[in-house]
Amino acid sequence: MSLKALGYIGANAVNLKEWKDYACDIFGAQIIAETPDQLKLRLDDKHHRMSIHKADAPGARHFGWDAGSREGLAGVVSLLKQRGCELREGTAAECEDRQVMGLVHVRDPSGNALEIFYGQKSGYPFQPARPMSGFRIGDLGMGHVVFMTPALDEMLDFYGALGFRMSDYIVMRAFGNVKAHFLHCNQRHHSLAMVPGPHSAFHHMMLEVNSLDDVGSAYDLVNARKINVTQTFGKHTNDHMLSFYSQTPSGFELEYGCNGRTIDDDATWNIVEYDSISYWGHIGAINAAN
Ligand SMILES: [Fe+2]
Repeated sequence: MSLKALGYIGANAVNLKEWKDYACDIFGAQIIAETPDQLKLRLDDKHHRMSIHKADAPGARHFGWDAGSREGLAGVVSLLKQRGCELREGTAAECEDRQVMGLVHVRDPSGNALEIFYGQKSGYPFQPARPMSGFRIGDLGMGHVVFMTPALDEMLDFYGALGFRMSDYIVMRAFGNVKAHFLHCNQRHHSLAMVPGPHSAFHHMMLEVNSLDDVGSAYDLVNARKINVTQTFGKHTNDHMLSFYSQTPSGFELEYGCNGRTIDDDATWNIVEYDSISYWGHIGAINAAN
């Protein structure tokens, strides 16, 4: 049994208005629900892909992985049970909130809260909040997530059992030769990456858009608003993504990019190791004083 794609992400924030401005005015997400406690963001024809929850402290909240079907979810549940994972079935209220037909909660070996689901509600019109050409999602899933973990081997074993395959590695020369591991579960170059480190942390999520103009115009907007750009515009060595990173109101970073290459055939894909993260760009923080 394998996971099919990254389906949705939940994040905590102290100030929902800040997230609303960030998501709509700069990145083009569509707000489809807004209460004093929660924002829901639409990125494509799914009901929503992101939920931002009012909380005392910012940070990641949950990561929704698509098991593909009811049978797929049952298969993942049985596999996780065999591994001795503690599972909790999602309530009807939680399924309604996520707009899915079924979900199960589990934590990965680093403690990240995962929700394995099936049946994400679909068929809605997406209207971006600013002029842009839309998000590249479909079978590739909503993007990728990158964790720092003190339990790399256990994480590789856990996600490997769930069907993730190695894409490649980057040895980060500027960070003490730390080796980042990139994994895929569909044709997206990576839906998940992991970097060994002293504690568990969520580093960034990536959203891919359909045109370079969408990335460039967002780059102008974050700079005009003096939002913390944590990595300047650049091109990654491994997935060829043209992107920049900025700090979300939840503390973690958001990579906003385009032109990512795909892994179309595992049988002919060569797993290699890169010596640097980027061909050019992706230089450290600017506007950080804001
Ligand atoms: Fe990334």
